[in-house]
Parts: sequence; C-alpha cells; structure tokens
Amino acid sequence: MVNPYFSRDVLSMKDFDRGDLDLLFQYSDKIAGLEYKERASLGTGRTLGIMFFEPSTRTRLSFESAMAAIGGTSVGFSETRTTSLEKGESFADTVRVVEANCDAIVLRHPMEGAARFAAEISSKPVISGGTGTEEHPTQAMLDLYTIMKEKGRIDGLRIGIVGDLKYGRTVYSLIYGLSKFNVSIDLVSPPLLRIRKEATHDFGTSGRANSIEIREHDSIEEVLPELDVLYMTRIQRERFPDEQEYEKVKGSYFIDSRQVERMKRDAIIMHPLPRTDEIRHDVDSTFNARYFKQMQYGRTLRAALLSLILNP
Ligand code: NCD
Repeated sequence: MVNPYFSRDVLSMKDFDRGDLDLLFQYSDKIAGLEYKERASLGTGRTLGIMFFEPSTRTRLSFESAMAAIGGTSVGFSETRTTSLEKGESFADTVRVVEANCDAIVLRHPMEGAARFAAEISSKPVISGGTGTEEHPTQAMLDLYTIMKEKGRIDGLRIGIVGDLKYGRTVYSLIYGLSKFNVSIDLVSPPLLRIRKEATHDFGTSGRANSIEIREHDSIEEVLPELDVLYMTRIQRERFPDEQEYEKVKGSYFIDSRQVERMKRDAIIMHPLPRTDEIRHDVDSTFNARYFKQMQYGRTLRAALLSLILNP
C-alpha cells in the first residue's frame, strides 16, 4: 500500500482526494479490529505535540487518547497562560519548541491560516485541530467515517447541514469532503448565517467527475422528511463580531423528538458537538441520534490518521 498520509500536513479537506479518504476509512476499520498489542506498536516511542490556543474538550481528548491507543504519548498545552507566550515568546518560536519535542503537532487557533503558518515553520507534520472559521479537517474525516459506518455508503445520500453555516468551520471541511462523493446537500440556516461563497465557489472549476447538488433553505421543515443525514451545528457565538447580531439569530433553529418523527426512519442525526440548544435532549434517546457515537468513531479515525502520518 502506498501511504499518502506519511509525514503529511493535514490542513484542509481540499487537499485529500477520494482515494485518500477511502484508504483512511479502510485503515480505521483495520485499527478498530486490532488487538491492543498490535495497535500499540504503531506509535510506541512517538510523541504528539498539542498546541491549543482555543477551548476544546473533544478534539484534544480525542487526539490524546488516539495517540495513547497506538502506544504513543502527548505533550503540549491547552491554554497559553502557562507557556512562554506569556513572556513574549513569538508564535513561531513556540512552534519550534513543540516541534523539537514531538513527531507531529496538532494545532487549534482562533486565527485563519495559523495551522498553515505553523506547517511552514515546522519540519514535523502539522494537523489542524480547527482554525478560526476556516476549517476543521479531522472533524470532517470523522464525520464522513461516521456516515460510512452508519449508512454503509456516502454516495447517493441526501445530507442536510443546519445551523451556523457562516462561522462554523466544521461545515466548510465537511462540504469540501462531501464534494468528493456523489451527494445532494441541503444547506439550512437563518439568512444571516448563510454559507460564505468560498465554500461552493470552487466546485464548478475543479474538474470533478462526480455529481454534487447544493440547495439553500431558510427553514428545516421542507427538507426534514427527505434527508438521510441531518448534520446540526451550534451558533458560534464567540465568533460574532457584534453581540446584537447574535441576539437576532439565537434560538432560531432546533430539532426535538416531535420533528424527528417526520424524518425517514433510518435517517441519522449528527453534530460535531458541543451542542447548546439546537438538539433538544429528548432527541438523545431516539433511534436516529448518532452524535455520541460519532465521537467514538473520532477516536478510531484519529488513531488511524496518526498511525498513517507517523509510519511509512
Ligand atoms: C467544533 C469546533 O471546535 O469547531 N467542535 C469540535 O471540535 N467538535 C464545533 C463547535 O465548536 O461548534
């Protein structure tokens, strides 16, 4: 097998083609089936550098536990207060410190382009753990893996992406990922939170052989019964430049168990999490809820990704 991930940066879903993604999913299945000893030999003696400049629960835990699952270890920081950044050390020098102490870096940052900049400085591979409103590529990888596992395929599905499409970075990575498959996408958001045009701009010119349809809607009602996958997202309050804008849209969409009854029986509901009020708690016990299982797939997927990046 030629491993296209070896020593590679993971900065954007645009950089990975369908073959790359298929291979990652197959390898994730393989990792999930390995005995502990075999799995733990993949990362023995290796270290993952964690540089998180923004709050995170899932992504950091998932990367650390994925690294442990392949026998490696993690070092780094999840807040800058305890680092030399406080003494005035530059971002670039901080990257050099982490780089010197690890085999790969995961970086989360509020600014667009931060992971790409770190990758230019670091000779070790850099994985984006989410940058600004731009992208969160490994979230999309695990989202696609979840769809593959739970629906058996991605091609031919109708996928609704609902919520804060303007500021939600997971949405951009997911759309770039889905664009490698034959899918139909319904984007549902209040008018103030519509998708930024950059997300769909490239589709016409990238010479894709597959077919992708994208439609935009203001309300979830009309599309709900048609969807195979409902992907909910949180309003990204912290990214609104103006609190009054947030006040206008807060609480403007949600799904509860009554609405779930209008969905296809085998439709699945996903969410990158954390949720606020957009998925009511009565949805958790429905057959369709997959957002907690999605997190479990995340650990497997990231263990596979790290193992592919670290081993030729
Ligand atoms: C997301 C993020 O950080 O972009 N969280 C995650 O990593 N699962 C989604 C969000 O914060 O809404």
